[in-house]
Amino acid sequence: MISSTVIPDEATLDRALRSAVRAPSVCNSQPWRWRISTTSVVDLFADPDRHLIVIDLDGRALLLSCGAALHHLVVALAGLGWSARIDRFPDPENIHHLARIQPSTAAPPPDMAALARAIPLRRTDRRRFSDEPVDEGLRMILIEHAADCQTGLHVVAGDAARQRLIAMITHSASLQRQQMGYAAELARWTGRYAGAGDGIESSTVTSGIDHPGEVPMRAFIQGRLAQSPHSFEHEDASVLMVLASQRDDRLGALRAGEATSAVLLAATNMELATTPLSQPLEVAQTRASISAHLVGPQLFPQLVLRVGWTQPGCTALTPTPRRHLDHVLLKR
Ligand SMILES: Cc1cc2nc3c(=O)[nH]c(=O)nc-3n(C[C@H](O)[C@H](O)[C@H](O)COP(=O)(O)O)c2cc1C
Repeated sequence: MISSTVIPDEATLDRALRSAVRAPSVCNSQPWRWRISTTSVVDLFADPDRHLIVIDLDGRALLLSCGAALHHLVVALAGLGWSARIDRFPDPENIHHLARIQPSTAAPPPDMAALARAIPLRRTDRRRFSDEPVDEGLRMILIEHAADCQTGLHVVAGDAARQRLIAMITHSASLQRQQMGYAAELARWTGRYAGAGDGIESSTVTSGIDHPGEVPMRAFIQGRLAQSPHSFEHEDASVLMVLASQRDDRLGALRAGEATSAVLLAATNMELATTPLSQPLEVAQTRASISAHLVGPQLFPQLVLRVGWTQPGCTALTPTPRRHLDHVLLKR
């Protein structure tokens, strides 16, 4: 087969990268850098200066975040009519070089292109969800999206398993509270200066303390996001799911990040609300417990996802900030 020499122009790549940086990232740290070559090849690098070294000791959340951005880029290109060949970890001499993306004129898979419309609509929603369960058919669709990225998505089924995971999240939070440097690092990513274009804003964090039996959110700064009226009159019927890989290495985490993006975008297209939760996987003890009791000892848990329906009458969430593209583009 003769390969096409047609390449996307600068404006197309600019649009695709603006969408890619809408990807979710741990504490909205956006730990990525991009480089565009003269032949329109896009390179993705991890930004070690944005590694949360206490919260994310082993760098998993950084790779998950970059994997999500990689998938967002490929989805955005698909939405613009381009497919992409991905070479992961292309340079053995440079551990920060995570992927090389070569756009091509071959028709992109239609299901990828369909995810593109979810990019500007997706939000992390930390509020209580409604009492309407997420039915089996929708869960299966999410599982298939994760599987396309070589990552398992395990439903935490039944009340006993759900309570067990909630207990692990609570335990990880209490261990982190005692960890040297944790509070300072969290404060650094929540109290950002105006115009920083990153970090967690108080308007995206719910106020008040968690109620017994509900999924605990990370205790960021004083939240200003209101729960919907009457939300505590109903149970939160969100489903908890765990993304898990067959390998516990950098490729496993990068691919799980791609799966994170795929699942969150597919859920958004189905009008489901989502919350990624990495806290119980940041602490070795609770991560081992999740592996042993919830996903199986042969698998390596990467991220917890909470998926559900927003309460009726909930206000729409505003988009979280992102740094300007010029600040994340490396000069060629
Ligand atoms: C790997 C990863 C881990 C995350 N962990 C948490 C978490 O533990 N708690 C939480 O509330 N949000 C978590 N998030 C969500 C981010 O805080 C969120 O993506 C970021 O603030 C940007 O907001 P947005 O998703 O609404 O665009 C995580 C996201 C990623 C990608």
